[in-house]
Amino acid sequence: MDIFKEKIAEAIFEHIKINKNIIISLLEIPPQSNLGDYAFPCFSLSSKLKRNPIEIAQEIKNKIDKTIFERIELKGAYVNFFLNKEFIAKTVISTIKEHKLGHSNIGNNKIIVIDMSSPNIAKPFGIGHLRSTIIGNSLRHCFVSQGYKVIRINHLGDWGTQFGKLITAFQKWGKMTSLKKDPIKYMYKLYIKYHQYAEKNPNIEDEARLWFKKLENGNNRAISIWKSFREYSLSDFKRIYKILNVQFESYSGEAFYNNKMDTVIKELNRKNLLKESEGATIVELSNFNLPPAIIQKSDETSLYMTRDLAAAIYRYNKYNFTKMIYEVGAEQKLHFQQLFKVLELMGYTWNKDCVHVYHGLYLGKDKKKLATRKGKTIFMEDILDESINKAKKIINKKNPTLKNKDMVAKDIGVGAIIFGDLSNDRTNDIIIDINKYLSFDGETGPYIQYTHARACSILKRYRKKLYFNINTSLLKEENEKNLLLLISKYPQAIEKTTNSFKPNILTRYLLDLSQSFNEYYHKFKIIQDNKELEKSRIILVYCTKTILFEGLSLLGIKAPEEM
Ligand code: ARG
Repeated sequence: MDIFKEKIAEAIFEHIKINKNIIISLLEIPPQSNLGDYAFPCFSLSSKLKRNPIEIAQEIKNKIDKTIFERIELKGAYVNFFLNKEFIAKTVISTIKEHKLGHSNIGNNKIIVIDMSSPNIAKPFGIGHLRSTIIGNSLRHCFVSQGYKVIRINHLGDWGTQFGKLITAFQKWGKMTSLKKDPIKYMYKLYIKYHQYAEKNPNIEDEARLWFKKLENGNNRAISIWKSFREYSLSDFKRIYKILNVQFESYSGEAFYNNKMDTVIKELNRKNLLKESEGATIVELSNFNLPPAIIQKSDETSLYMTRDLAAAIYRYNKYNFTKMIYEVGAEQKLHFQQLFKVLELMGYTWNKDCVHVYHGLYLGKDKKKLATRKGKTIFMEDILDESINKAKKIINKKNPTLKNKDMVAKDIGVGAIIFGDLSNDRTNDIIIDINKYLSFDGETGPYIQYTHARACSILKRYRKKLYFNINTSLLKEENEKNLLLLISKYPQAIEKTTNSFKPNILTRYLLDLSQSFNEYYHKFKIIQDNKELEKSRIILVYCTKTILFEGLSLLGIKAPEEM
């Protein structure tokens, strides 16, 4: 909610008795500042009030209480409001001081489930799952700031036919000690070896199918190998999640639903939704222009879809969510359309609360899909390491005496990757370019971190206790007004981000705020001889710093005080 729209609406409401929320929804932010800070178009009121819109505008201008305005101008049926600078400063400073800006209770503790990251254990853990991890995590933070309770579920791909392949490979060539040492990369080696071998010896595929069947039937050997795969890779994943500072409330993946699928299949049967097709059991979806959802294969082994059905129902019963977000790549659009449709056919009206929040691919600089280039997987950890190492080099050049260099390099290196990802519309494919992401003066994470650190260093130099009850009339520069107005827009940036599930709205906002602050900093002296003025400007620095810090943390990015 825009704190100023509310105040202006109250003032208008004194004279025009229409619903305050309607007034708020009509208030606009003009494209140019010479048209006011806010504008109120009176056209749509004309039919309601049965009066000429220009007359309504005039009446508002004449009668409205002017205390919060510097001036009011008319442009046709538009009332253009120019807010009083002191009023802006007072309002913004007090909301920040009370820690209210950007925090709301609109979620009222309702529960949102986010299915995110969800890598596949028996397939390469490449950077394919990085986007889901980063976007899901940022959405989680944003929803929490709005008063929701968020359950992050890592729906691990810890079941499926690929395990048959990997168990087969492990029996042929595997060593437990090597698995333990470097699980993700070792399993990748087995994965490659299996596929190379299978090209010349296709019979091995039968063996793999058999092993998966054994696994589903609870064969001891199969289960014990599977358990090692899961346990060791999970501990490897957790190490990477720690670098990214991402946590999960649940790691219940596909395997968790093994004993919950029968009930679902029976229920589908009872509801007359199942059909036989070429030996498999399916739900026909042709009426909805969708291919059939396959529920059981001819050998009765289960499928991704079946497990997702069981998972959705289980989660609804367990969490009674108000929304369930699947942060999963765009290539699974069809899968989720089918899933949500089958839930609807089963009579679950909450299917409308499920959303597939999808994202595009990572591309290399040659615009080719990264993960499959030359059949090579790029591992998440390698990308993070590369970025952290480069950040370290930059620090060594720029600020060689910095304390905690390693920590700061990690914050910058990881922050650069996160911001580089989030600053793109998630539905687009993105080109991953670490050097660009790390630039201190581009539209990057480090640029915002640097602006934050600059604000911190000014506050450090000031040394005195902050005094909030400042003389706001001293903040009279246009730059100061613009900066304060921009700060007041922070809540809307979060609101738009959560409404569209698009963190790039928040990244854009933080870039604008940083630019506005840097412009101000270069033009005006903050630490200075006029102590009264200094006191006021320092509070403006504090407000900016606070929003930069909080905004970055909503993105999942740390903000070091020095860099
Ligand atoms: N493991 C899947 C994959 O990597 C993603 C799982 C997404 N979540 C879900 N409930 N299907 O393709």
